[in-house]
Amino acid sequence: MTLARLVYYSHHRMAGGEQAWIAGLHTILEQSRRNNPAYDITGALLFNMTHFTQVLEGPSDGVAEIYDRIARDDRHTGVTLLQHQTVDGRVFPDWSMGGMLLGRETRDIIARHGINGSVDPAGLTGDAVVALAADLSTNTVQCI
Ligand SMILES: Cc1cc2nc3c(=O)[nH]c(=O)nc-3n(C[C@H](O)[C@H](O)[C@H](O)COP(=O)(O)O)c2cc1C
Repeated sequence: MTLARLVYYSHHRMAGGEQAWIAGLHTILEQSRRNNPAYDITGALLFNMTHFTQVLEGPSDGVAEIYDRIARDDRHTGVTLLQHQTVDGRVFPDWSMGGMLLGRETRDIIARHGINGSVDPAGLTGDAVVALAADLSTNTVQCI
């Protein structure tokens, strides 16, 4: 079985304000956690009120299928691939989809990765996103 990892970012286009967007994030996480186990997909979804940045890992067929579905979702736009490659192992083996809200509380962790202020995923490599998400997953109080 070939294990693949895919990293992308997108611009959210959910209606309303911050409370509605956070509720929308929860809905997406619920859908992900319901669907991903059947595809053996794990990963992390970062949200900073502007962008989604997501890491998907699992069997290459499943990753491609789920990504294809996600890319057509009208809750976001400008879906841009940062990385899609085979990998030896998973970084988030225990998470069918970990959710992380980026904000004031995560500022110090983010700064350790050389990012000051808001995270602009367009300026990151796939590996940098994975490293940041892994660090957040073990440190942040904002995992949802
Ligand atoms: C940013 C974002 C990330 C998503 N991630 C996943 C995911 O990891 N797994 C998944 O099944 N659906 C994900 N979705 C939702 C899919 O696009 C789609 O709505 C969902 O899979 C449909 O599932 P359902 O038929 O069970 O409702 C995501 C959507 C968005 C906007």
